[in-house]
Amino acid sequence: MRVLYVVGTRPNFVKTAPVIAAMRDRLPEGRHAIVHTGQHYDRLMSEVFLEELGVPAPDHMLEVGSGTHAQQTARTMERLEPVIEAERPDLIVVPGDVNSTLAAVLTAVKMELPVAHVESGLRSFDMTMPEEVNRIVADRFSSHLFLHSEDAIGNLRAEGVGQERMHFVGNTMIDTLVALEDRIAATGAAAQLGLSPGSYLLVTLHRPALVDGPLLGETVHHLSHLTQGMPVVFPVHPRTRKMMEALPDWSAPEGLHLTEPFGYLDFLSLVTDARAVLTDSGGIQEETTYLGVPCFTLRANTERPVTVTLGTNTLLGLEPSAIAEIPAFLANRPADRPPPPPLWDGQAAERIADILAPPDPEMLTA
Ligand code: UD1
Repeated sequence: MRVLYVVGTRPNFVKTAPVIAAMRDRLPEGRHAIVHTGQHYDRLMSEVFLEELGVPAPDHMLEVGSGTHAQQTARTMERLEPVIEAERPDLIVVPGDVNSTLAAVLTAVKMELPVAHVESGLRSFDMTMPEEVNRIVADRFSSHLFLHSEDAIGNLRAEGVGQERMHFVGNTMIDTLVALEDRIAATGAAAQLGLSPGSYLLVTLHRPALVDGPLLGETVHHLSHLTQGMPVVFPVHPRTRKMMEALPDWSAPEGLHLTEPFGYLDFLSLVTDARAVLTDSGGIQEETTYLGVPCFTLRANTERPVTVTLGTNTLLGLEPSAIAEIPAFLANRPADRPPPPPLWDGQAAERIADILAPPDPEMLTA
């Protein structure tokens, strides 16, 4: 069997690493080729992740870089097609909902190749979010849909997807977290920054709806107020950095600890030891739910409602002034840590491999 894995952004690497490992283990004689589209290209957004997660060096680098949605998608399609022609895969595996995902699915389906979509069925019901369009297209044209939460089953059924394409396998992002838990614990990133575990707010913000307009300045203003009550650490995504530096009269507010993005191990160590996390990321809503760390999501909606109903996530709305309410929320929240959602147990990639490369029955009886 020949499998092609197409990844392009920071969260893609985290979601796909355990799938590649499980499939290589299952099919040691198979061809497992990795394509890195290059949507994320800074060392701190890309190489560091591949190294820490133990992903083999990509076989193909497409180097598409940044651009408009059309440019990024078109460049990926154009450069991926000859790679698929050369590799002749039996299956293409794509994770998540980024532009690399969309481009890979469209290229593959036009070449009449089957696609497995990891993290299928998430819906924010907000078509102004670029990822929502990407998710819908990816699910419409993929042959294997791997779901990580029960909400996804209802979403896909409502779109008329047949049961035979859906597989509720659990969360591969949590597989990575479980696999690296000991190394994350040994990192001690908070202490290295001079912070006491359990004392600080960790912030990540990068979505266009928040950072590409006037809300970014308001958010920084409210965060700087919050620093009077607790330390605030904010590793800044390159998109956010660019927008911050374009703000009129920009200077970093005193007390707000702005840093470069962290690698996976340091970042998850900071999440584990945080008093709370403020984010607009999807994956971080999931990681905090698994770890039982309070999460505040600065968005109008979430495609991950299970983190709100079962987990620790509070949706603040797309409303920077709500940041001021975080201390009161923290003071009033129950002390109990809720259990993680079903199948967020570190075994999702094995379940995916069970479906894509079922064990040989003769081997089982031998
Ligand atoms: C992308 C995904 C988003 C995901 C996020 C994770 C889409 C539509 N968006 O958003 O769903 O949550 O990745 O981080 O696919 N840049 C750099 N260096 C890099 C990458 C980006 O400087 O390595 C800067 C560039 O200025 C670029 C901007 O960030 O224009 C945005 O990058 P882009 O890949 O378009 O989207 P993200 O905001 O990273």
